[in-house]
Amino acid sequence: MIIAIDGPSGAGKSTVAKAVAKTLGFSCLDTGAMYRALAWQAVRDGIDLADNEALGALAREKEVSFGHEGGDPLPKKVFIEGVDVTASIRTKEIDLAVSPVSAAPAVREALVAQQRRIGQQGNYVVEGRDIGTVVFPDAKLKVFLTASDEERAHRRVRQNVDRGLGSFDYQEVLSDIRRRDDYDSSREASPLRPAPDAVVLDSTGSYIEEVIARICALAKDGR
Ligand code: DC
Repeated sequence: MIIAIDGPSGAGKSTVAKAVAKTLGFSCLDTGAMYRALAWQAVRDGIDLADNEALGALAREKEVSFGHEGGDPLPKKVFIEGVDVTASIRTKEIDLAVSPVSAAPAVREALVAQQRRIGQQGNYVVEGRDIGTVVFPDAKLKVFLTASDEERAHRRVRQNVDRGLGSFDYQEVLSDIRRRDDYDSSREASPLRPAPDAVVLDSTGSYIEEVIARICALAKDGR
């Protein structure tokens, strides 16, 4: 069974996806991390981020994988061609590079194929932007998670502080979130939008635990 969780950056998708997966005993796939890993590789290889063909060739050639520890179904590490990029994909440089990389149609084609292969292996909570619309249009449950720009920026700053990565500056994070939302929603290839049959949940002002409980209840109803 696939549970698709889509939504803009900072809506709490990762926290929610991991908690739902843990409660239901599912595995979890963070597709944003796959686009980030590829963006990291493209920057490292000096590839022109406007070159769809070169980026597509890179995406077909390099495999992104996830590392599990001690049988935990939730992955802790991200690798590209065996290189551990868990921390290096969360920098400001990659925040900027990932937008053009993820807008390249050839990249999306290659990564969507990888995502489908992974998801077919069992029960997965898959988080991203186009999971319910493109990657798994037949997902049993589709959630579109959102929250106000301001709340998302506050959460992202707290997350960055906890991780010791990224920007701690609220205004900077807010404008970055808005820039990425615009980019993700207006791009031609798989723009960010809810699937027609998605349950739209706005987490502004509500406890994330309530959102998690709601999704778990919906998943159990649908089984
Ligand atoms: O969820 P995130 O912020 O780590 O995602 C990083 C970038 O990748 C973001 O700019 C949107 C893009 N992305 C995408 O286009 N499609 C997905 N399924 C997941 C992420």
